[in-house]
Amino acid sequence: MLKYVIRGGNPLHGEINISGAKNAAVAIIPAALLVDGVCRLENIPQISDVTLILRILDELGASVRVINRNTVEIDSSKVRRTCVSHELSRQFRASYYFIGALLGRFGSGQVSMPGGCNLGARPIDLHIKGFEALGAEVEVKNGYVLAKAPEDGLTGTYIYMDQSSVGATMNVMLASVFAKGTTIIENAAKEPHVVDLANFINAMGGNVMGAGTDIIKIKGVKSLVGGTYSIIPDQIEAGTYMAAVAAAGGCVRIKNIIPKHMDCITAKLLEMGVSVVEDGDDLIVSRTGPLKHTNIKTLPYPGFPTDMQSQVAVCLCLADGVSMVTEGIWENRFRYCDELKRMGAKIQVDGKVAVFEGVSKLTGAPVRAWDLRAGAAMVVAGLAAEGVTEVDHTHHVERGYEDLVTKLRNVGADIQLVEEPDDVVCHDNVG
Ligand code: EPU
Repeated sequence: MLKYVIRGGNPLHGEINISGAKNAAVAIIPAALLVDGVCRLENIPQISDVTLILRILDELGASVRVINRNTVEIDSSKVRRTCVSHELSRQFRASYYFIGALLGRFGSGQVSMPGGCNLGARPIDLHIKGFEALGAEVEVKNGYVLAKAPEDGLTGTYIYMDQSSVGATMNVMLASVFAKGTTIIENAAKEPHVVDLANFINAMGGNVMGAGTDIIKIKGVKSLVGGTYSIIPDQIEAGTYMAAVAAAGGCVRIKNIIPKHMDCITAKLLEMGVSVVEDGDDLIVSRTGPLKHTNIKTLPYPGFPTDMQSQVAVCLCLADGVSMVTEGIWENRFRYCDELKRMGAKIQVDGKVAVFEGVSKLTGAPVRAWDLRAGAAMVVAGLAAEGVTEVDHTHHVERGYEDLVTKLRNVGADIQLVEEPDDVVCHDNVG
């Protein structure tokens, strides 16, 4: 069992370089299956979800050449298998993108039902409805999703998404790249990673229009050719470090971001009395005074992102007065609150709403990373707290943050990744 040991209380000072976006990379790497030729992907984050995806590509028969730690070249011309093993796909949610990519390129795909963070029910009915609308037959059997196109291939159509879904929007885009005619997705998700996938497909010779609005049109093309593409910076990684500065104090230049993607997070930090100054592709974030309370509701982009809820909630624990957080996307995203209460936070959770009564300080404690973003929040809390915080189940955090420990140590944080024998961990409630 690995754990982060954090001695809190150091204000953060310096620069943090932001890596490529996880939720773009996990769709764009499988999209390389659609490309006839060598596809060079740059700015790939070195995180465990990406490692798994590259292993799946290898298992399917693609040639994956690692150029350096953030660049790979993928050649899918020798791929013949269209089944992704349960052992690999169950480990992360985004394995569902292999269904769309395999169906789109080879006319069939078989992928184990995806795993990932436990945030409540995580159905894929909208993905399946989208594939079926394109003419595919989809069956869930023995734990696998099997999607098969008719003999004469998929046909473009009009698809209305009952709910804005990032995964379903991107999966339908993947499946429809070669579909005959035009596919129209209405009520499409608008997240930056949706736009990044569209830009990738277009850079390889596809025809996707409207990504970033709620109507996306995909005109089927005959093939995608090879090329080079660089993944966008990670909005949530950047936001997490902004929250860390807000909670722990100090002044940090967050480098290599797209400031527009950060507006929804920046707006809340400004309300809380944090200074955020845009400087080209960087944001300079600083906090010297007390934090002010505010209310947050998570929403699809450009609303406040659910993936930033827990990290900013740590700041609300330390803000003057009472703040309210409403989760608008997932059923079960407040499990981290019990961990924060162990550190002295005052929080009341009722269904999808949590009320935070600000306290003057948090105190270090052994806590658990329940999932990726909950784990990031524990790190933020540990940096702000008095004394030592130990965060276990760090594998969740490693799924989405490249070099977290090094990046934080470079700005003055006292954080280490330490190996601990499993039997020493006594607060891991598995019951
Ligand atoms: N939904 C359905 N049916 C579906 C798909 C989604 O009812 O077929 C519902 C979900 O239950 C949820 C809502 O629609 O209530 C939105 O889900 P969405 O499909 O947008 O989520 P996702 O694609 O599974 C991605 C990110 C999540 C992020 C959400 C929302 C990836 C790999 N994951 O999930 O990221 O929280 O969008 O922005 O892109 C994370 O990075 O920590 C993370 C959990």
